[in-house]
Amino acid sequence: MTDFVAHPELGLAWVTGASSGIGRALALRLVKDGFNVVVTSRDHQKLVKLQHESTGPGKIIVLDGDVTDPSDMERVLAAIEYEYGSMVLAVLNARIHIPVHGEDMHREDFEMTFAVNLNGTVNCLLPAVRHMKARGHGQIAIVSSVTGYGGLPTSAACGASNAALINMAESLKFDLDKAGVRLQIISPGFVKTATTAKDEFPMPALISPEVAADRIVQGLKSRGFEITFPRRFTWAMKLLNLLPYGLYFWLINRATGWKTRPLVTEGHAVDVRKRHPQAV
Ligand SMILES: NC(=O)c1ccc[n+]([C@@H]2O[C@H](COP(=O)([O-])OP(=O)(O)OC[C@H]3O[C@@H](n4cnc5c(N)ncnc54)[C@H](OP(=O)(O)O)[C@@H]3O)[C@@H](O)[C@H]2O)c1
Repeated sequence: MTDFVAHPELGLAWVTGASSGIGRALALRLVKDGFNVVVTSRDHQKLVKLQHESTGPGKIIVLDGDVTDPSDMERVLAAIEYEYGSMVLAVLNARIHIPVHGEDMHREDFEMTFAVNLNGTVNCLLPAVRHMKARGHGQIAIVSSVTGYGGLPTSAACGASNAALINMAESLKFDLDKAGVRLQIISPGFVKTATTAKDEFPMPALISPEVAADRIVQGLKSRGFEITFPRRFTWAMKLLNLLPYGLYFWLINRATGWKTRPLVTEGHAVDVRKRHPQAV
């Protein structure tokens, strides 16, 4: 079993999906803690802007790339390890969220979601584990969500990918512990970002990306496997998922007002994608 906790003196941090939202706030927070942080996303300009905004004492290193491309992630990892130094912390956070309505489903919404959220994480995980295993230590945190605990309205694609990420992390932990690589799962509640701008129901206990980043940093220093916040909300979600299904569906319908909503018209999903092009 490993208790390894990454520290700026030991090497670099890598944050994927760092051009906005939680990843961006986390990269800035880690820099404040003294880490040199490699930031990755598809949008080079946003990453450069982030680099200019950061005030140290650590520094931001921009290495853009698309997590859906395994060779791109191999290239980023090789650049980190051979040009900048050992990577001791990886926070795999790059995601998309496409709300899905059961009455207006599109295959591509599922395919794109799994390509980025699940396979994209695997594309980062493989080279990260290989380098850390060779060194005998490292820390990797995979960002999932409370939507991975159980089904919620509009979460069929994103929630399914988050559930898969939780299961994947639990399964891998058994082996990675022995290899000296500490694996954690991050399950936030609602955080005010481009992702939640698309949500169509009330979002209790909504927090800022900066608060989320603080909670993640605390969790990375702890010994726990799961980093979840704000607990008043995420623990309530955990408890809800222990209930019999009849009661679970009744309570979620009531809390979201979902049952009384009209069905969406055909093409709704296309409209959502047009209104939120940054999602894809
Ligand atoms: N916001 C919430 O309420 C909430 C709640 C629970 C969990 N989460 C989780 O927190 C994480 C971040 O969410 P967020 O709300 O901060 O979202 P966000 O602001 O939309 O950020 C998503 C990031 O992922 C990057 N990304 C998307 N596709 C990519 C690709 N193919 N390759 C590389 N990077 C890609 C985006 O950058 P580019 O577009 O520049 O590539 C962006 O930096 C996600 O894992 C999400 O599931 C969020």
